[in-house]
Amino acid sequence: MKDSNQEKTPFFTKLKEYGTSHVAPFDVPGHKLGRIENDLQKFAGKKLYLLDSNAPVGLDHLSFPTGVIAEAQNLMAEAMGADRSYFLTNGTTSGILAMVLSVCKANDKIILPRNVHKSVINGLILSGAMPIFIKPNIDEFVGIANDVSFKTVKQAIDENQDAKAVFIINPTYFGVVSDLRKITDYAHKHNMTVMVDEAHGAQFYFSPRLPYSAMEAGADITATSMHKTAGGLTQSSIILTKGERIDHQRLRATLNMLQSTSPSSLLMASLDVARKTMYFKGRAKINEILKLAKIAREKLKNIPGISVIDKDYLLEHGCYDCDETKLMVKVSDLGLSGFDVYQIMKRNYNIQLELAESHMVLCVLTIGTTKQDLERLVLAFKKLSEKYNKIKTSLPKIEFHYQFPEAYSRPRDAYHAPKILVKLEDAIDEISAESIMIYPPGIPIIIPGEIITETVVKDIKFYKQKGGALQSDIDNDTDIDYVQIVDKENWIKYEGDLE
Ligand SMILES: Cc1ncc(COP(=O)(O)O)c(C=O)c1O
Repeated sequence: MKDSNQEKTPFFTKLKEYGTSHVAPFDVPGHKLGRIENDLQKFAGKKLYLLDSNAPVGLDHLSFPTGVIAEAQNLMAEAMGADRSYFLTNGTTSGILAMVLSVCKANDKIILPRNVHKSVINGLILSGAMPIFIKPNIDEFVGIANDVSFKTVKQAIDENQDAKAVFIINPTYFGVVSDLRKITDYAHKHNMTVMVDEAHGAQFYFSPRLPYSAMEAGADITATSMHKTAGGLTQSSIILTKGERIDHQRLRATLNMLQSTSPSSLLMASLDVARKTMYFKGRAKINEILKLAKIAREKLKNIPGISVIDKDYLLEHGCYDCDETKLMVKVSDLGLSGFDVYQIMKRNYNIQLELAESHMVLCVLTIGTTKQDLERLVLAFKKLSEKYNKIKTSLPKIEFHYQFPEAYSRPRDAYHAPKILVKLEDAIDEISAESIMIYPPGIPIIIPGEIITETVVKDIKFYKQKGGALQSDIDNDTDIDYVQIVDKENWIKYEGDLE
């Protein structure tokens, strides 16, 4: 690979040229490169608008790139060790939908862990694919569902030799990875396509000190959020592919079905420049971050009531590997839930954490993290401990349970079934017609087609009471006292559905 090529930012360079070329714009967008005044323009500056154009002459088309977008995508693929890359302006969410829809047809079996992001469930609804859910490893001490073991995936492959694809999360939200290389080899031996969710793994492509990437593992296709950990603007993501298993025509057509015909030039430019920065500076910056993270972990370990879930812990508990730029802190020994700490950190210390679970909170470190911010974080945990470690015995014990509801039908069938809205407590033993999750992490507690149990109802109530951002995907109602269930009496169940 020639470094001189990676110095280039073909799309961003052309976009800058266009924005400053004194063009008379008679196309959209209607702000005409910032010739309309508004509060955003006043705050962020006119330059923001100069970079927002919609495929004028010379700037190529995302739906069928042959010019500067194609060039930028090729550089991205080259930098990340892939054969091809596709720019996405609607996040990894759109990438996951496109992967599932382009690889699986209706009723194709797909082997996947149950703790997938909601976009995967939506991909199942849209495609009509038949999920074969496998159980992720559950850590009761930390209160999370995490990676999958090779053994579990192997068993699912052995029992479902007609499956079309295997879907793996690399890494999970918490930075834990499965043995993707071994899984990929085994899936390929059985002629299955390997799809990967790398929403949290863009940094893997730029540092040998982090777990290996999906492309290094030989996976066929992956969706990666450049915006989460590689410096892109929010929603800028990519799809990467390798090998012969992907039908590129179908993938292109699917992406064009899902993406706007007016993709954001700002987001595409941010992909172009994020790639260049990560390529030249990522490795050194990630080394720095790993060093800072280590110091922070050492300090946090000495704080009473706080436990750091580090690599040693994770490896001892059977994980294959982990990303040490993620800082997992268990707080429930302070008598507080992760949700409480998430709120207190913002309210009292102006510190924004990435997510909370019942027992822990997650802090994401990237090449943008500073030493000063990490020091503030450690100090805040110290103060938190000083206050709550004394009174913890009077606080209620934080419970954790993670169970997997039984599936009654494909998600698609339940989604399209006639529905009734009932009170949560009246929904026990009924079939859910919707997904309900806390966001983040956006992993559904229940999905369409699963049977609602007492534990599901208890979990939803717990999360609601604890202030987790509960989201329901159908009515988008955050006040979840009600749930949509399948109206069984009026439902004609698809014959090829689950037994
Ligand atoms: C595991 C996982 N996959 C996929 C996504 C979707 O990514 P994006 O926000 O880029 O659409 C997320 C987002 O949080 C995620 O956590």
